[in-house]
Amino acid sequence: MLQHKHVLLGAGGGPLAWLAVEVLRALQRAGARVRVVLSAETEAFVPALTFQSLTSEEVIPADQPYGLLQGTAFRPLEALVRGLDALVVVPATPALLAKLATACADEPLVRAALLHRGLTVVAFPGKAPAYQHPLVQHNLRRLREAGMVLYEQAEPALPEGEEAAWSLDPAALVQEVAACLQEASALAGKVVLVTAGPTQEPIDPVRHISNRSSGKTGFAIAELAQRRGARVVLVTGPTHLEAPPGVECVRVRTALEMREAVLAHAPAAHVVIKTAAVADFRPKAVATHKVKKDEAAVVIELERNPDILAELGAQKGERILVGFAAETQDLLRHAQEKLQKKHLDFIVANDVTDPTLGFASDFNRVRILHASGQVEELPTMSKKQLAACILDRVQALLAQKARS
Ligand code: C5P
Repeated sequence: MLQHKHVLLGAGGGPLAWLAVEVLRALQRAGARVRVVLSAETEAFVPALTFQSLTSEEVIPADQPYGLLQGTAFRPLEALVRGLDALVVVPATPALLAKLATACADEPLVRAALLHRGLTVVAFPGKAPAYQHPLVQHNLRRLREAGMVLYEQAEPALPEGEEAAWSLDPAALVQEVAACLQEASALAGKVVLVTAGPTQEPIDPVRHISNRSSGKTGFAIAELAQRRGARVVLVTGPTHLEAPPGVECVRVRTALEMREAVLAHAPAAHVVIKTAAVADFRPKAVATHKVKKDEAAVVIELERNPDILAELGAQKGERILVGFAAETQDLLRHAQEKLQKKHLDFIVANDVTDPTLGFASDFNRVRILHASGQVEELPTMSKKQLAACILDRVQALLAQKARS
C-alpha cells in the first residue's frame, strides 16, 4: 500500500505514546520507509531506543531542532525532510497541537512540519475531555486551515460522564495515509466548479425568500476536490461555513448573482457540480425601504429565476455536469426528468421528508441516477463520505472521456 513512500513519523507523548510504536510497525508493514522524529514529551514514555531498534534510519531526538549531528558531520533537518511523502504525527497531545498551530518551532518535529509541504496527518484522541476545550478546538481549526489532515477515530457514544478511551486502529490510520496520498493527485490539472448553499431573494432591505440548504455537501465536495489536486472554484450562497483552504470562494446572495459568477467560471471548468438550492422565484420588485406592517401588500408578486444548470446543459461540450434534486414526492421520476432536461452526466437525488437527513444534518441518503440509465441506491452516509462518492464517479467519467 505504501511501497516506495517515505514517511516521517512524529512521535507524540503522554500515556498513549506507545501508539506511535504500533503506527510505526503498521507503516512498515504497508511497505513505507519510516524515519522517526521524537517530540519533547516522547521519551518520558517511550525511549528513543525502541524506535531506533525498529528503524534503519537514525531517530531525530527532540533536542536537535536544526538537524542531526553525527560525529563531526551535521545533517540539516531540511535534508532529512526532502523527498518526504507524508508526515504522520501520533498521538498529538494538546501541547503538541498548540506548538504546531502557532508554528512554535523549538523542536524538530514542529520544524519538520513547517518545512514539509506535502501531506501531514495529525492523529489524536479528539473525544478526550482536554481536546474539547475551546482553545484546543481553536488550534485544531488552525491546523485544518493550514491544510493538515486531522485524524480522530470515531468513538461509539458513551453515557454522559464516562471518559472515552481512544481506540486508534493503526491499520486504519495507515489506510487513511495511503488514501490521502492517492487522492492528492486524482484530480490534478482539472478545474472543478462547485455551487453550494441557498440563495436569498430580497423582498425589502431586511426580508428575503430563501430555503433551508446549509451548504455542507457543496463545501465538503469543494474541500475534497481541492485535496485531490483540482483547482476549485466554490460559488456559494449565504452560509456560516468557512471556505475550505486552497479553494477560491465566491460569495453571492441571489440567484442572478450566482448565475453571473457561475457563467464567468464555467468556461474554464472541466467539471461543474451544482449542489446549490437556487430559489426558483424572486420578488418582482424589491422595496427600497422596509415595508411597514400596515402597508404590506398581502401578495408578493414573483418572477422565475433563470435555471443556471439548464443553461450550462444547453452548451455542455466536454464538461461533466452533476446536479442535485431534493424532492418530497415522486423522487425518481422528477430526478429523471431533470437529468434529461438539463443534460447532466448524473444527478444526486434525495428525499427531503426525513427530518434526520439532508438539509441541516451532517448525513444524507441518496440515489444517483446516471445518464446511462443506471440507478445507484447509496446507504446513509456523512456528507463528507457522499462528497467522496460523487468525486469517485466524476473521476470515473473523466477517465472514460480520456480513453475515448
Ligand atoms: O431546482 P431543481 O430541483 O430543478 O434543481 C436541480 C438542480 O438544478 C440543482 O443541481 C440546482 O443547483 C440546479 N438549479 C440551477 N438553477 C436554478 C434551479 C436549480 O442551477 N434556478
